[in-house]
Amino acid sequence: MADVAIRADFLHCLRDPGLDGSDAGAVEHVRDGVLLIRDGRIERLAPAAAMLPRLGPDVRVHDRRGMLVVPGFVDTHVHFPQVDVIASYGSQLLDWLERYTFPEEQRFADAAHARAAASFFLDRLLENGTTTASVFCTVHPGSVDAFFEASEARGLLMVAGKCLMDRHAPDGLRDTTPGGIDDSRALIERWHGRGRSHYSITVRFAVTSTEAQLEAAGRLAAEHPTVYVQSHVAENRDEVAWVARLFPERRSYLDVYDHYGLLRERAVYAHCIWLDDADRARLAASGTAASFCPTSNLFIGSGLYDLRQAIAAGHPIGLGTDVGGGTGYSMLRTLGEAYKVQQLLGISLHPAYALYLATLGGARSMYLGDRIGSLQPGRDADLAVLDPAGTPLLARRTALRDDPLDTFFALATLADDRGVLETWAAGVPVHRRAGAAPVARP
Ligand code: GUN
Ligand code: ZN
Repeated sequence: MADVAIRADFLHCLRDPGLDGSDAGAVEHVRDGVLLIRDGRIERLAPAAAMLPRLGPDVRVHDRRGMLVVPGFVDTHVHFPQVDVIASYGSQLLDWLERYTFPEEQRFADAAHARAAASFFLDRLLENGTTTASVFCTVHPGSVDAFFEASEARGLLMVAGKCLMDRHAPDGLRDTTPGGIDDSRALIERWHGRGRSHYSITVRFAVTSTEAQLEAAGRLAAEHPTVYVQSHVAENRDEVAWVARLFPERRSYLDVYDHYGLLRERAVYAHCIWLDDADRARLAASGTAASFCPTSNLFIGSGLYDLRQAIAAGHPIGLGTDVGGGTGYSMLRTLGEAYKVQQLLGISLHPAYALYLATLGGARSMYLGDRIGSLQPGRDADLAVLDPAGTPLLARRTALRDDPLDTFFALATLADDRGVLETWAAGVPVHRRAGAAPVARP
């Protein structure tokens, strides 16, 4: 593969800048820089004046002056089969699952439907600059094959798994206790570590798995230490009360998963709203990540996630869209809603921490911080090329101040997919905004 380069402004995190952005050195900004890519990986990022004279004559330089390039976004919690569940009116979690989500997921028994939905879903991620996600498929193993076939065809680093659910779900959406584990094991063998695909043992939530299935899932996780684990926890108060009735001997909802060996590094739990200090300490001690899903938490009325408490506990934290509970695939817009949730709690989410959450923080929460999430040498060249003038309002607002973090904050507040010009995966452009002008705006 010939070397390629991109000329633009660049912004990325080297480490956690802190919720208030107080570690200013954690964010690197390169104005008029050149990013050199070799074999799909980042070779070097430096000012154009220093880099251009040293590039060989065969290096193609993509001129994106006027654009702000950041690492591809990492969506730490999303459901690909819920593309047709988005924007469903009038329910909170348990009713929303029964009325809208479970009927829709039953359609994924049909492999052709699953393939079409996977392609549609991944194209929405790419048009929003998202290059990696932790993805729930349905209970059907074929939905996982459909998903990974589509993500592999696009060259994406993805984590996904089949839902384990052997109770409290309708016919056609339950597996059996041994059958669900056998299917998961076969999918691990087929997909985990094949190219950029990674498998995640996916317990839907404690409500829909028997104790026997939770125990078997924990054993399967122990047999496969590099495999991921994902689930939901403490999202909605009625859900928390139901879990307490189902597992009266457990100290808390999170303790159910802990008891079955499902808290560990590479485990990602969505929501984590109604946890206590002891739960958060267990997340930290076990290296388990929380996925903060603000648009979902607002849309299905689940609650306000307190980032300050999570950061104080010291466990990994990522950001998730959680579509179809969430209301869109844009991680920029999700950051805008995250900012508002924190405002309601009296917390100001600094633009530097917002950038971290959507990139390196998400990557670290999935134990992928050495592969993606920043623009440091050796990382996979997964990139979002942001357009600070993607809409007339963005153009006017971002022209006011010459400050890349302010530009990023304006994009998070005002942008949707129109703020993303291009998306690159492993050094290859995999999306370009329809109708976008092919030229730079120096
Ligand atoms: N809890 C169990 N299943 C789901 C789901 O599909 N979406 C959300 N937001 N919460 C869940
Ligand atoms: Zn979810």
